[in-house]
Amino acid sequence: MQTPIGIFDSGVGGTSIWKEVVKMLPHESTLYLADSANAPYGEKSKEEILNLSIKNTELLLEKGSKIIVVACNTATTNAIDYLRENFPVPFIGIEPAIKPAAFHTRTKKVGVLATKGTLSSSLFHNTSKLFAEGITVLEQEGKGLVELIEANQVYSHKMQELLTTFLQPMLDQQIDCLVLGCTHYPYLIPVLKEMLPENITIIDSGEAVARQTKTILEQNGLLAPKTNRPKHMLYTNKNVDILKSFVDGPDCEVSYLDF
Ligand code: DGL
Repeated sequence: MQTPIGIFDSGVGGTSIWKEVVKMLPHESTLYLADSANAPYGEKSKEEILNLSIKNTELLLEKGSKIIVVACNTATTNAIDYLRENFPVPFIGIEPAIKPAAFHTRTKKVGVLATKGTLSSSLFHNTSKLFAEGITVLEQEGKGLVELIEANQVYSHKMQELLTTFLQPMLDQQIDCLVLGCTHYPYLIPVLKEMLPENITIIDSGEAVARQTKTILEQNGLLAPKTNRPKHMLYTNKNVDILKSFVDGPDCEVSYLDF
């Protein structure tokens, strides 16, 4: 197996990014860490998020990763600067897609659904300031959503209830774009499409992250040869069956690891 692309998240959510990476880079092997035992990261302090990000990075490097995708907005916005300065591989992060939303909106009002950890980070605030001039950005913390997704309850009554509570105020204010600022949330798209009026565009950054990963691999001469037979190892420190229900494929191996 060629040295893999390492990917981590606080849990199963980052598999939404993992899928885009696998689709865009079909010859690459991957190593995915779902730190579900410590989810949600979004409610933790910056220091705790940083320490968990360091722990995940060290494990991915120990297992030979050539590049690391931080498939978590909360970890990116709180820890990526430190990771880039202190570890010897390239890092790709993910942040709420404010820039495309600001470009796309006609009502000049966009909603951002993200974790408390992301919304309170200075990286998020700087990005908003930079790209959303003249645009009203309505921030909404998705408290409780990650826990339900981690428990495989995307289609539950509780989920409907929480989403209604979070989205209605933004709809009342005439948003026309909803930015999904957490890698767990793309799994809510089918539910959101049922709930939201048709004029609302849902924006997430998964494909952009995969594209950026490809660019950085190319620039660093790290692409796997086209002859590589990719293998995908996914580890969780909580429930193997739940992680399995989010990923599937002949070359995937999902197992428990105590980390
Ligand atoms: N999936 C993560 C994100 O993109 C973290 C969610 C959480 O653990 O709170 O922010």
